[in-house]
Amino acid sequence: TTAPEVHRGLAGVVVDTTGISTVIPETNSLTYRGYPVQDLAAHRSFEEVAYLLWHGELPDGAQLREFRARERALRPLDRTTAELLAKLPETCHPMDVLRTAVSFFGAEDPTEDDGRPASGLAKSLTLLAKLPTVVAADQRRRRGLAPIAPDPDLGHAENFFHMCFGAVPAPEVVRCFEVSLVLYAEHSFNASTFTARVVTSTLSDLYSAVTAAIGALKGPLHGGANEAVMHMLEEIGDPARAADWLDDALAAKRKVMGFGHRVYKHGDSRVPIMQAALDELVALAADPGTTRLAALHAALREAVLDRKGIHPNLDYPAGLAYHLMGFDTPVFTPLFVMSRVTGWTAHITEQLAHNALIRPLASYDGPEQRPVPASA
Ligand code: CMC
Repeated sequence: TTAPEVHRGLAGVVVDTTGISTVIPETNSLTYRGYPVQDLAAHRSFEEVAYLLWHGELPDGAQLREFRARERALRPLDRTTAELLAKLPETCHPMDVLRTAVSFFGAEDPTEDDGRPASGLAKSLTLLAKLPTVVAADQRRRRGLAPIAPDPDLGHAENFFHMCFGAVPAPEVVRCFEVSLVLYAEHSFNASTFTARVVTSTLSDLYSAVTAAIGALKGPLHGGANEAVMHMLEEIGDPARAADWLDDALAAKRKVMGFGHRVYKHGDSRVPIMQAALDELVALAADPGTTRLAALHAALREAVLDRKGIHPNLDYPAGLAYHLMGFDTPVFTPLFVMSRVTGWTAHITEQLAHNALIRPLASYDGPEQRPVPASA
């Protein structure tokens, strides 16, 4: 018998249908429920995009008001969660904190296994509302500071800055952050979303699926790349060193973080809009350190394109933008989670509405069948 064809990394394999988002290669565009993501980023809030991903349509005025009121009411953490998170070691990576928090939310939720899609959306909104509170408390804990309670008078993005830093920055900064949330929200069958769908396909619960998805996003080949971008820029240090650093990195067969993509081979459709938002942040800061970092960022981008013909992905501009906003580098991937939780949970609902257990095959290349020897 001939060995079956193997699709390593499931590259190019279509495993199901989805109505949530698609990449259109001809126009290099990404749509959420049919709407181009760059138009959503330019004209709509992250809350509206979350509603769109979950319900299939943008909210009208009354729906948005209700959605916002519910999100604001759900932000606070109960005392048990706050105490649990405060007990985690200070060396714990923020992604581990977040993964633990979601797992704990599942353990505490008495409706955890009722399996109704409507309750799935209620749990999704709870995560959307509470994850920023967890991330902000952890960002402060890393600096030896006490948490700041959520402010129900502030929008989602403004409140997050308030909880992290005790102040809401300039509107351009909030806007740049919100653009990153809209762009990160959803991207079809990426590794973490697929992970969430695999877990859901066994009819496991939403918290288990999101906990697993956080684990998948953490790795540097996926969401961990936005953190890795910043470490890399710090390692290079000087715009004049970018090209030489790259030559050494490529000679050592290192992957350049924030470049390349499984689906986009001629540039990530989300990058131009994120880069434009980043350029605004750089112009706003107008200090020599920022200008130098931006020059280094541009020099490495040009060098990678020149040497390898590889384009940056969303993590490349987002990583530097998060740094300029004042977040600690290890907190960057949790910011991605705060956004992608909307896409994950939309996919969990879609998977349940049309479930098939995800269970592929493997082509065996181990030892031939053999007798078990008598024990010694
Ligand atoms: N640096 C150096 N070479 C690269 C890179 C990179 N970042 N990306 C791709 N290549 C090369 C790769 O070495 C291979 O070359 P060759 O054919 O000579 O062996 C060729 O380009 C094709 O790459 P691949 O690894 O087969 O492509 P893939 O689809 O399996 O990998 C990827 C996609 C994202 C894992 C990879 O591009 C990568 O490791 N990038 C760096 C990590 C990163 O930025 N991840 C974020 C992904 S997008 C947003 C997100 O999920 O957060």
